[in-house]
Amino acid sequence: MAGVIGWPIEHSKSPLLHGYWLDELNIHGNYTKVAAAPEDFEATVRNLMADGWRGANVTIPHKEAALAMADEVSDTAKAIGAANTLIFTENGKIQADNTDGFGFVENLIDRGGQKWLPQEPATIFGAGGASRAIIYALLQAGAPEIRLTNRTKSRADTLAGVFGTNVRVVDWNDKTAAIDGAGLIVNTTSLGMKGQAPLEVDFARAPQHALATDIVYIPLETPFLKSAAKAGLATVDGLGMLIHQGRPGFEAWFGKAPIADAKLRELLLAA
Ligand code: ATR
Repeated sequence: MAGVIGWPIEHSKSPLLHGYWLDELNIHGNYTKVAAAPEDFEATVRNLMADGWRGANVTIPHKEAALAMADEVSDTAKAIGAANTLIFTENGKIQADNTDGFGFVENLIDRGGQKWLPQEPATIFGAGGASRAIIYALLQAGAPEIRLTNRTKSRADTLAGVFGTNVRVVDWNDKTAAIDGAGLIVNTTSLGMKGQAPLEVDFARAPQHALATDIVYIPLETPFLKSAAKAGLATVDGLGMLIHQGRPGFEAWFGKAPIADAKLRELLLAA
């Protein structure tokens, strides 16, 4: 048994994702949603452990609390300052990891091939939790420079301070200039999500070989990706990040490595 803990949790697609893998791999396992208010989070985790769960994914607003209560924390979760995957060990310990950045990079490799790992500067819009995970993963993957731009500049400054001189903050008003010479252009803001204003970027300034990607996947083709494609750039949508971030947890809990195939994408899109 494993599952996902959040507040709210009704709209989580993780049960569909893990349920698909359990079926495909013929595993007699169970993956369910658990709603827990912030004040109940730690007790909920301990109860699940006592019930014999192998671990859980953790989502908003519990990612920092999950990190804080763990007995062992991976270097990645430490650097990102949050955990999205908990593993309960046989001797009663809680291990915490963060697979969001892994999911982001694996999605780029899966959809765009190795060539998309940045040799050139990467431009990132947004400075929230997702941005932090992605910056960490891109630096680990060898990105020479990250240009970070955010509506609230102080948040970008704080984030850049965590990672050091390879992360350079660019004013939100100059965000179009931030894509000059960038090999990878990433939206981590919630702009472009169904019901929200679009993130407007003039992709005419981007190199023709640049790749644009969005972590928003509802809609799948965001206005940001649409305008990048119109300017002739390659694009990768955000659905795969959700799929790939789930892989390490699934393998740790259920003992088999799952795959991201087209049927799974269709299932998640139809939900
Ligand atoms: P997450 O953890 O998913 O990254 P978050 O921490 O709430 O979520 O961050 C949301 C990101 O979207 C932030 O970069 C936020 O910018 P601010 O730091 O200025 O709030 C960005 N964002 C949300 N609404 C926005 C808007 N209307 N215009 C520009 N940026 C916006």
